[in-house]
Amino acid sequence: MTVSDSNSLFEDLLVSANRLSFDPRNPAVYEVDLDNEGSYGMSPEWSPLFGTRTWASMSDAERSELTRSEVAQYLGVGIWLELGLQVALLRRNHSADPSRADVRFLLNECADENLHSLMFVNAISSIGARFYRRDRSFGVFGWLFRTFAWSEVAYGIILAGEEMFDVMQRDWMASEDVAAPIRRTSYIHVVEESRHMPFARRNIRDCLAGASALRRSFSSLIIAIGTHIIAKGLINRRVYEDLGFDWDVVKREIDGNEHHRMMFRKAAEPFIEFLSKEGLLTGGARWIYRKSNLL
Ligand SMILES: [Fe+2]
Ligand SMILES: [Fe+2]
Repeated sequence: MTVSDSNSLFEDLLVSANRLSFDPRNPAVYEVDLDNEGSYGMSPEWSPLFGTRTWASMSDAERSELTRSEVAQYLGVGIWLELGLQVALLRRNHSADPSRADVRFLLNECADENLHSLMFVNAISSIGARFYRRDRSFGVFGWLFRTFAWSEVAYGIILAGEEMFDVMQRDWMASEDVAAPIRRTSYIHVVEESRHMPFARRNIRDCLAGASALRRSFSSLIIAIGTHIIAKGLINRRVYEDLGFDWDVVKREIDGNEHHRMMFRKAAEPFIEFLSKEGLLTGGARWIYRKSNLL
């Protein structure tokens, strides 16, 4: 792949962004559907508890409340990624020539990500949910990521999050039984992220062109660790404890829930396929993706 091939992709992505982008500050995006007040926060199949004994014992109203809290957790991780990627990528491009096609696209991407984060905050508040404090290890990893992640690792971890949210949000935006603000914001996110993913994929390929086998294998390991932390971060004990569940029971059920593992594998499938094509699915990385239920 030559520099001019990459530049022409970045120019195309910019043209596409000019043609179809959203301003999610419009209050209509967050309007709740009053005829559908018991709707879910996300398609119930994405709840880690779906199909368990606890799930079977819950009323529709309880499932609605649970999935609304769970989507707040998922989107909270999404916001954390959107903010982290900006810090990581902007500091690496602070002195770059701003007229370069990749830098211009990065500026466009950061504008998107800021509005996505704001959009998710508004959507969560409009469905009456709230964000939960995350484990301290998440904060430590965030600092390492923002400070030290080098090019293909930064883009790799960003792509992991983007690909997994893409699969989940395609379901959420199309599910009639999901709360309207989540459906609308998922649609906006899917459209705009469809440009971010080719940007990340191309950057990873460019960074690794001619890289040594050692660097490739080390980077693949760090990307896998980052992806593991994201996947694990989607499940937060505070969500369940706040709703009155016994965490030990919930944890046991989630760990033993084959449906949940299948959904996580489905979310990761396009990302894993990309890694495999690019030679980033090394033995060590595979082991980690299996531990994360992503492979
Ligand atoms: Fe985003
Ligand atoms: Fe993105």
